[in-house]
Amino acid sequence: MKDKQFLMIPGPTPVPERALLAMAKHPMGHRSSEFSAVIKQVYQDLKWLFQTQEDVFIYTSSGTGAMEAAIFNLVNPGDKVLSLVIGNFSERWAKIAEMRGADVEKINFDWGQAVDPAVLRERLDQDINKEIKFVTLIHNETSTGVTNDLQTLAKIIREHGAISLVDGVTSVGAIPVKMDEWGIDVLVSGSQKGFMIPPGLAFLACGKKAWQAYENCKNPSFYFNFGAYKKSVAEYTTPYTPNVSLIIALKETLDMMKEEALEGIYNRHAGLAKRMRAGIRSMGLELFVEDDAIASKVITAIYPPDGISVPDIRKTLNRDFDIVVANGQSKLKDKIFRMGHLGFVSEKDVITALGSLQASLEKLGCTCKSGCLCK
Ligand SMILES: Cc1ncc(COP(=O)(O)O)c(C=O)c1O
Repeated sequence: MKDKQFLMIPGPTPVPERALLAMAKHPMGHRSSEFSAVIKQVYQDLKWLFQTQEDVFIYTSSGTGAMEAAIFNLVNPGDKVLSLVIGNFSERWAKIAEMRGADVEKINFDWGQAVDPAVLRERLDQDINKEIKFVTLIHNETSTGVTNDLQTLAKIIREHGAISLVDGVTSVGAIPVKMDEWGIDVLVSGSQKGFMIPPGLAFLACGKKAWQAYENCKNPSFYFNFGAYKKSVAEYTTPYTPNVSLIIALKETLDMMKEEALEGIYNRHAGLAKRMRAGIRSMGLELFVEDDAIASKVITAIYPPDGISVPDIRKTLNRDFDIVVANGQSKLKDKIFRMGHLGFVSEKDVITALGSLQASLEKLGCTCKSGCLCK
């Protein structure tokens, strides 16, 4: 059936009608007082969502743009950067830093695992000359469905004195992130995730210690320049032409988020993950991340049952049930599939998706182990 498609990929996520209708209006001029009033409110609400007193910059780019902004405004070529890698997206920090000409050292953890705080502490303790200037890490690793213990990791980095660059692309607005309280130096995110609007905006908040690094950066970025963005936030505008329609939609979704309140948003996502994981287990399917303590609240990675391929599962869910789920990425391609429950998603959506998955497996002739509901 047309117009019924439901995105259960980890972004872009479904968009509420309120935001869609806001985007359908005639665009405003980006230097108008009308738009200035909108963005003033949005800047204020983003601070609330990021749980910070710092300004939150809005870039017209996808989330990767904000990652690049962080590296290219803070890191000088030759600076030592330690990258904590648990999957595809946490590895992206290292790739960007390498392109900047930084001296990048990676600590790789098995995909499906979280960063072990003891390993980080040991490495930073060895760095007695304080050569490591930056540590890059991810909060929620979308490629594997693992959430790092960001509070603990940020504390270890702070005690060492390095600057933490945190990818919160699939955590801000869904999983608790307390930028100021946890001592995170730079936090980035993207619009097509917990923010419940389409792709096209990225967000970055920069703390005071990181700001000193910006002031010492010899060749900062032009388009993503921290100084230009900070000045614009104070003037309730943006340095260049922003995506006006998306910012207007964002005002609507931030209003919705304030109505739900942070605790409500976090509890909803936690409840969705719990239901999803229980449903998958009761079907007799195997979760890629068995340990509930590190399992993501916004994305669940699942092994296909024996004899049934990931492409077939995705195709059947899409064709017969209008549900789009994601494949695994890079070395996990066709080995797992990933079901997103991020942003504008309700309990009904997860229950529908579980029932549709079960029916898809049935159609594909699933012969799961005993206890499988497909039988
Ligand atoms: C955790 C994480 N970081 C970074 C990105 C990259 O964001 P974008 O595709 O918006 O550039 C994604 C995208 O899915 C992500 O999930």
